Amino acid sequence: MEQKEKIAIYPGSFDPLTNGHIDIIDRGRKIFDKIIIAVLHNPSKKGLFPVKERVAMIKETFKNSNSIEVDSFDGLLVEYAEMRGAIAVLRGMRAISDFENEFQMALMNRRLSRKVQTVFLMTGLRWIFTSSSIIKEAAQFGGDITGMVSNPVKLKLEEKFEKFKNRATRTK
Ligand code: PNS
Repeated sequence: MEQKEKIAIYPGSFDPLTNGHIDIIDRGRKIFDKIIIAVLHNPSKKGLFPVKERVAMIKETFKNSNSIEVDSFDGLLVEYAEMRGAIAVLRGMRAISDFENEFQMALMNRRLSRKVQTVFLMTGLRWIFTSSSIIKEAAQFGGDITGMVSNPVKLKLEEKFEKFKNRATRTK
């Protein structure tokens, strides 16, 4: 009997994708046949990058990986997951601080659909303190973010913050 392809959705804002996300995706690929990285399109939440650019950066990062698809969605995550034939939602968990929110989301998603399981992977130790927001903050002031994001993301961040490249100054 032919085995059905095991698909997981890896949802998020990805504003922008970080190496912490990539770590979760790489490990998720060892469990699932295909991972759909799904960027949330939330018109009421303006990010640094428009969703189209976030998707383009992720596509560029994974251009040589045929088990990865990049897409965007809005509306309910579990509805999107069912529509895409996914059996799971993949999420990374960093420190305890992530737990409450993730637990709440997983329980809500389970209440909304029993067809989709939430699978958590613990973030690798070296990425525990990595987040899109802290990377954006460092990049904004010209901090070196090498090794925290992929090359396509690094280039886009540098392009975005070109005008802020000055070093710290005293304001007094
Ligand atoms: O990277 P993020 O911002 O932590 O990702 C959050 C995301 C996209 C997973 C979450 O906001 C989401 O699933 N939004 C879709 C709306 C939804 O399904 N909400 C019900 C579950 S709480």
